[in-house]
Amino acid sequence: MDYKQTVTAVLATALDGQLTADEISAKLERPKTSDKGDMAFPTFTLAKLLHKAPQQIAQDLADKLDTTAFEKVEVVGPYLNFFFDKGVYSEATLNTVLTAGASYGQNEDGNGGNVPIDMSSPNIAKPMSMGHLRSTVIGNSIAEILTKNGYHPIKDNHLGDWGTQFGKLITAYKLWGNEEDVKRDPINKLVEYYVRFHKEDVDKPELDDVAREWFKKLEDGDPEAHHLWEWFRKASLQEFNDVYDELGVKFDTYNGEAFYNDKLGEVVQILKDKNLLVESQGAQVVDLSKYDLNPALILKSDGASLYITRDIATALYRDRTYKPAKNLYVVGSEQTYYFKQLKAVLKEMGVPSADDLQHVPFGLITVDGKKLSTRSGRIILLAKVLEESIKLAGEEINEKNPDLANKQEVAKQVGVGAIVFGDLKNERTNNIDFVLADQLKFEGETGPYVQYSHARAESILRKAGNIDVTAAGNQVADPEAWDTIKTLADFPAMVKMACNELEPSVIAKYAIRLAKTFNKYYAHSKILTEDDELPARLALVKSVSTVLKESLRLLGVQAPDEM
Ligand code: ARG
Repeated sequence: MDYKQTVTAVLATALDGQLTADEISAKLERPKTSDKGDMAFPTFTLAKLLHKAPQQIAQDLADKLDTTAFEKVEVVGPYLNFFFDKGVYSEATLNTVLTAGASYGQNEDGNGGNVPIDMSSPNIAKPMSMGHLRSTVIGNSIAEILTKNGYHPIKDNHLGDWGTQFGKLITAYKLWGNEEDVKRDPINKLVEYYVRFHKEDVDKPELDDVAREWFKKLEDGDPEAHHLWEWFRKASLQEFNDVYDELGVKFDTYNGEAFYNDKLGEVVQILKDKNLLVESQGAQVVDLSKYDLNPALILKSDGASLYITRDIATALYRDRTYKPAKNLYVVGSEQTYYFKQLKAVLKEMGVPSADDLQHVPFGLITVDGKKLSTRSGRIILLAKVLEESIKLAGEEINEKNPDLANKQEVAKQVGVGAIVFGDLKNERTNNIDFVLADQLKFEGETGPYVQYSHARAESILRKAGNIDVTAAGNQVADPEAWDTIKTLADFPAMVKMACNELEPSVIAKYAIRLAKTFNKYYAHSKILTEDDELPARLALVKSVSTVLKESLRLLGVQAPDEM
């Protein structure tokens, strides 16, 4: 049921061709509260065109308007306020939701186009930080949203498994490392060596030369260097996978930086053939002055590759392998300048999808006021935050619902969901200070609140005896239900908006809104009263449950039936 179309159509007729349907539709507003109508048409901007006062225009239009599709149309000053027919609208909306089920809101705008998503991408031998959490959960949600819009996302974990830091790490390990220690507690130990390296090289800059040599050896395939690298990588990946399991995030590929080692020669060759490489103090750079950007350093004077060299190879590979419709990089805002450089180099190289490359930035995250940094050793381990959250969720559940059957499992779903939702409800470019205790509350704009609202809907359906709600009839006249019904009808538009803006917060905010309107309805109406409208009300509850669950799924958050 598309009321926007209906309103546009009757206005177009009444305006008799003075405005196009698109112009009318663009002017339509949504009143803040339903008592002012469900859609409003302001007439100020028509005064010039029609040589009449806006109030007069509104009144004249109202006299001419075909109002049969509406409950009523009111003139308030310069506004025409349309009130939808609640019975017709609720029936159409609920039946659409119930017929579609979980695929409600699905569209095929993406035409199956491939969208590689560069996401998570933590660095080997370092703990996965809250920053990488953002990339992981934002990327994962964007992938779900893209699928819902008919695209085919490819989630690629571009692990930081190559680069000069491995020279440092090998140097540090050979100086101070111990095999047994690393085996016992890989990431912590490796970080310890790395941090020590950075402390000591302040006074002993020669350590940097040794590290450079080790990295060069690694690039040249030296067996000892390669063996150590492989070991560090495997051990780190195991710890990362524990976190991904906890978050329920899966990847299609783990093509880290090292995957592109054998593809760097071609990059350099193309750059040379196109006369893009120039020498600068012994190094090879691409001049980007015409983009108003600093030159991109492609090869160091010792011939070693850089982060960007590997990213160029990555982009080329994705271009050829996927012929991407979009090409996304979910990486923190601090790399914005870098991605401009990358895109500029790719454009100079004539890579077809260069224009589609899109950096999807996000802001910084602090946890309970603490900043994250690996170098200085002040690290907040993501695994620790998750553990803490699950523990707190467990305590909350013990208090609220001590008899719950699968408490452990639900505590995990709520604890993890709180963190994921707490992140995704923010516009991604915002910086966030994450206060765990706040995100775990069952009231307020939190994941547990939305989960709890879904569980409440399920509990109502259970109490009603799980009767089969059918997609027929379902006219809910109760004015208390009206906002919930309208919010349900908004979902498909939200799915599109979240996709256009690559913004999971659109879905998270929508889920909060739906949960709020539903809880208000629940507080004001006796849903389970035995009367003629009971089946229709249960259809509403079922629809709410379906759409809340689907919204949470798009965010990568679980929706337990009981909590
Ligand atoms: N490993 C990098 C970091 O932690 C992020 C990689 C982002 N992806 C890319 N293709 N550059 O900062």
